[in-house]
This record gives sequence, structure tokens and C-alpha cells, in this order.
Amino acid sequence: MKIAVIGTGYVGLVTAAGLAEFGHEVIGADKVADKIRRINQGEVPIFEPGLDKLLAASLKRGNLRFTHDLGQTIQAADVIFVCVGTPPQDDGSADMSQIEEVSRMIAENLNGYKVVVEKSTVPVKTSLWIKRIISLYKKTDQTFDVASNPEFLREGSAVSDFLNPDRIIIGVETERARDYLVKIYDKAKDRVFVTNIDTAELIKHASNSFLALKISYINLISNLCEKTDADVEQVAKGMGLDPRIGGLFLRAGLGYGGSCFPKDIKALVKIGEDLGVNMDLLREADRINFDRIRVYMEKVRKALWILKDKTIAVLGLSFKPETDDIREAPSIRVIKELLTEGALVRLYDPEAAANMKTVFPEDSARVTYCRTPLDATEGAHALLLITEWDEFRTLDWPAIRRLMANPIVVDGRNMFDPQNLRGLGFEYYSIGRA
Ligand code: UGA
Repeated sequence: MKIAVIGTGYVGLVTAAGLAEFGHEVIGADKVADKIRRINQGEVPIFEPGLDKLLAASLKRGNLRFTHDLGQTIQAADVIFVCVGTPPQDDGSADMSQIEEVSRMIAENLNGYKVVVEKSTVPVKTSLWIKRIISLYKKTDQTFDVASNPEFLREGSAVSDFLNPDRIIIGVETERARDYLVKIYDKAKDRVFVTNIDTAELIKHASNSFLALKISYINLISNLCEKTDADVEQVAKGMGLDPRIGGLFLRAGLGYGGSCFPKDIKALVKIGEDLGVNMDLLREADRINFDRIRVYMEKVRKALWILKDKTIAVLGLSFKPETDDIREAPSIRVIKELLTEGALVRLYDPEAAANMKTVFPEDSARVTYCRTPLDATEGAHALLLITEWDEFRTLDWPAIRRLMANPIVVDGRNMFDPQNLRGLGFEYYSIGRA
């Protein structure tokens, strides 16, 4: 069986490399020729731990190759994984134009039976549109099936998520499509769950929105903690001991960012409301998340009063650790507010600085990108911890204390031990902790 993966973004690259690692013959395709040229030269366009090795191993083994010839790729494949982008639009709905474009290309190159698999995150009922477009534009009487196989990859651990999945959701409407997909995932067959297509599509949006809801819930509780003597870390631990609740995704802080949760929760709200379902529960979760930056900046202002002409060290720019992705990163809104109020920022991130320079270009007077966390704290009136990269766990606090103008730390991820930092002479603020 030959597999095509269309789209070589983060999902497509991991899917192509992962399926090749499972032993399949895979062709990755993207219409951007320059991207394909770079991948073929061994360049991995995104920072994702382990992906470079996985790609190199499959390219060397010879069962994975990349091309920008989409037509030939479609013709050669039995199963086509569609991994193109579905970016958000102003009204919260997903822009499906790339899915439509690929569907038309599949129609034009339908030279035999094929299974077309939606891998990108799409609204429920998308399969009907893909089916309609392929049927409308196909030039032969060849048959095809559409299936849904949503991805549950987390940035930063996408490779291990793909190779050791918790579950593989397969949405199909024919036995034939089911057989193809079950065979593809034979190596993890104990984790395969087969449903109809609408259900599979909805499982993806429902899962992401539920996790986002969980985060907003603990952030709401952290607001309550701040008005009482309760400690949100202990509340989360105490709640998580109940297996019905579970301890994961109960970390209070600056809220969720990235290319998935903010987009998916808005998309599900739109889908529900278009179908006449009241989606206020998710609307509120999204509002609580948006409010996190205000809550955080209040702490910064409480510590410094006036931000004008203050030097602020910002540690962590990516939306979460282990990625260089800054999409919907809380750091962006925090830095914007700091700059608007006339502060000078000294920024540090182990991987995301290059991406952030496209949002806040280096400007010697107000925006400085630093090589080390220590460098960022030089002369700073406050240190803002935005992303909990592991390397910040071993910061040299006595040295930081000497370098900073004011020993103030505003920890947006509850990364540090309050007693320890206060013992070292810092004024320390965090989230939902006394
Ligand atoms: C998320 C899902 O976890 C994946 O299962 C899904 O496949 C993916 O979206 C997607 O749809 O493609 P990802 O966005 O990479 O993955 O990152 P997460 O680890 O889920 O974190 C999302 C955000 O929530 C981050 O900003 C993180 O800092 C925040 N978060 C997470 C919290 O604020 N508190 C927590 O307890 C956990």
C-alpha cells in the first residue's frame, strides 16, 4: 500500500515520518517547491524534538521521499492523508480553502480507488464537502472513500505521541476504508477505535476544547485562591487525586496558547452556534483564557506601579516549552503591553527568539534579544517568567539577584518555589498562591 501525505507543516511532517517508521512506503508532498527542496536537503523546517532523526532514518531507509508534484503523488497513492492548514478566520470558523483545493486535485488525479483521510483539524461534517468536491470534479468513474483520522500530537512531544499513541480514532463509512486504515495502524491495533466520520471529527474538537476548559477552570479557581488563603497548586493536586478528575492539564498560569486550543475552542463555538446549540460554556472558557494576561499584568503593575522606562527581563517566548512556535503565545500580548507602556524589554528563549524577531524586531533602544537568561536579567527592574522551559529550573539566582536592579520575579507558570526565592531576597509573585 502506498501512502501520500499532503502538506508538510508540523502535522504532515510528523505523520509522513511516523508512517514511514511504521514500515509503510510514504510520499510527502507540498506545493511549495522551496520547502520540499530544503526538506530533501535534510533541513527540518520546524523545531520538534526527535523529528530530524526520524526523518533522516526514513529518508535513508528509502521508504520516505518528498516531492512538490502533487498530481503524481496522488496518482501513485492508495491512501492520501490530507494535512494542510485550516487557519482561523475572523469569525472563529476555520478557513477550509486549502482542503477544498486539495480535494479538487485529488478529483483531477483520481486514477483508481483511493481512501482520502482528513488528518487536519476540521469541523464536523467536512467529509461531506470533500466527498462532494471530489465527486463534482472527478473525470473518471473511479471510486473513493473519505475517512477521518484526527491527530492528537502535542508540539514538543509529537514524535513520541505519533509512535506511542493513547488512541487512534478512525472515522469511516465503508468496510473497505476501515480495512485500509486498520492495516496502516496495525502496529498499534490495540489502541484503534473505529467510529463513523462525524463522530471522529467531533472527537478531535471535543477533546481539545475539553482540555482548554480544564485549564480555564483551574485558572478560574486560581483567581479564587488569590482572594483567599488557598493555594492553587495544592487545590489542583487535591482535585487530581480523584481519578475521575485526573491531575493533568490543571496547571494554572498564563493560560493556553498555540495553534490548536485557541483556534479549536472558537471553531467549536461557531460550529455549535451555527447548528443552533448554545455554546456559552466554551465561550466562557475562552473569555477566562483571554483574561489571563490582564490578571498577570495587574501583578506586574502591583510590583512596579509605573512601567515607563523600566527594564523588564522576559524569560520564555514560545507558547509552551520544547517548541519554537509562538502562535498565540501569551508572551506576545505581555510584551505588547510592556512596550505600549514605555518599558524596555530584554528577551530570552532557547528556541523561539528567531520567530519572535518577526513580531518584535530587535531594536537596541527598547527590544533586546539576549543569549542567556542571565544576560536578560542585567539591570532589570523585574523578571517575568512566561514559558516554563526546563533550563529555567536551574537558574543561578544569587547571580541574578546581583545583576537585577530590583529583585522582583513575576512567575506566570508557578515554576519556582516561593519560599526559596523569598529566602534568596526576591520579591516573588505567582499565580493563585499566597
Ligand atoms: C494540543 C493537544 O494537547 C494535542 O492533543 C492536539 O493534538 C494538539 O493540541 C492539536 O490539536 O494539534 P499543543 O497545542 O501542542 O497540543 O499543546 P498542549 O501541551 O496541549 O498545551 C496547549 C497550551 O495549554 C499551552 O499553551 C500550555 O502552556 C497550556 N497549558 C497546558 C496550561 O496552561 N496548563 C496546563 O495544565 C496544560
